[in-house]
Amino acid sequence: MTDTSKNITILGIESSCDETAAAVVVNGRKVLSNVISSQIDIHTVYGGVVPEIASRLHCENINGVIRLALKEAKTGWDEIDAIAVTRGPGLVGALLVGVSEAKALAYALNKPLIGVHHIEGHIAANYITHPALEPPYVCLVVSGGHTHLAVVRDYREFELAGRTMDDAAGETFDKVARAVGLGYPGGPKVDKAACGGDPHAIEFPRGEVKDHPFDFTFSGLKSAVLNHINMAQMKGEEINVADLAASFQRSVTDSLVTRTILCAESYGIRKVAIAGGVSANTALREAMKEACLKRGMECFYPEPVYCTDNAAMIASAAYFEYLAGRRDTMFLNAEPNLKLGER
Ligand code: KG4
Ligand code: ZN
Repeated sequence: MTDTSKNITILGIESSCDETAAAVVVNGRKVLSNVISSQIDIHTVYGGVVPEIASRLHCENINGVIRLALKEAKTGWDEIDAIAVTRGPGLVGALLVGVSEAKALAYALNKPLIGVHHIEGHIAANYITHPALEPPYVCLVVSGGHTHLAVVRDYREFELAGRTMDDAAGETFDKVARAVGLGYPGGPKVDKAACGGDPHAIEFPRGEVKDHPFDFTFSGLKSAVLNHINMAQMKGEEINVADLAASFQRSVTDSLVTRTILCAESYGIRKVAIAGGVSANTALREAMKEACLKRGMECFYPEPVYCTDNAAMIASAAYFEYLAGRRDTMFLNAEPNLKLGER
């Protein structure tokens, strides 16, 4: 059994997509440092993440990012109890850089190595912002690659109640942003553009999956937005980007919030959380908060910096793995298609 009376300080490493990140976190909740080196400016030139470039930049930056995380945390190697790293899902080449780095550090320093599921990391970001949050709760995970409705039964126990049948929510934001010329990364740009728009200006569909009330579909919405743009262009009409962004956001948000609340009610759970890049979205945060308030449910979301990819969330999730006794070996590998709850 692990001694829980002692403070556990974990170095987290994240390199699953286009952020090279390292963080030092105590007991899964107290962040001593959270360093993120974003590659966005470089990938923007190509309109999306180029995997080979991402891997190369991770290689170039990872040592400096880790060094800075330790420096900002005012922590020496002797104070680090374990090295945690995202093992999947994500881009295989990008994941491999973090996994190899973590293995090398754990071996050289003779420290425990803990491989972490990226989505479990996103969920754990809520423990950083809300130190009193404990399972069970329902968590809507909305990132660039995933849209999951997870029933978090315990810190390491997840039931996948719903998922997207096609595009992930973040992917839909990115595609719509590209179609209206807002560029990459789409989510934050649509969010900003929507601030000045009328969310009732255009009626976009809300996707429903027959007989699967907790599943999502965004392909119909995406087509409707593209059709709207094409029609306007054919008629020579100017597109009101703010109205389009706000109306699109209302449709996505309605779908996400309705299903999350329904799921929580069906499972008899009174706590709802959101996580992942899209949980930084202003409209989603507001709508979820309001829906929960109406029903006397508690609503949780991470601070924006812990919504998008970061390593503090990885160190947080690793703390619960550490307590449960998980220790990985030098055989730890990158798992690009790792499923939620897979150990
Ligand atoms: O979780 P994340 O940082 O990376 C993945 O694990 O995929 O999520 C990235 C996604 C992108 O699709 C990005 O456009 C979206 O999150 N995103 C947002 C916002 N900030 C990031 N979507 C909507 N509103 C935002 N404010
Ligand atoms: Zn992510």
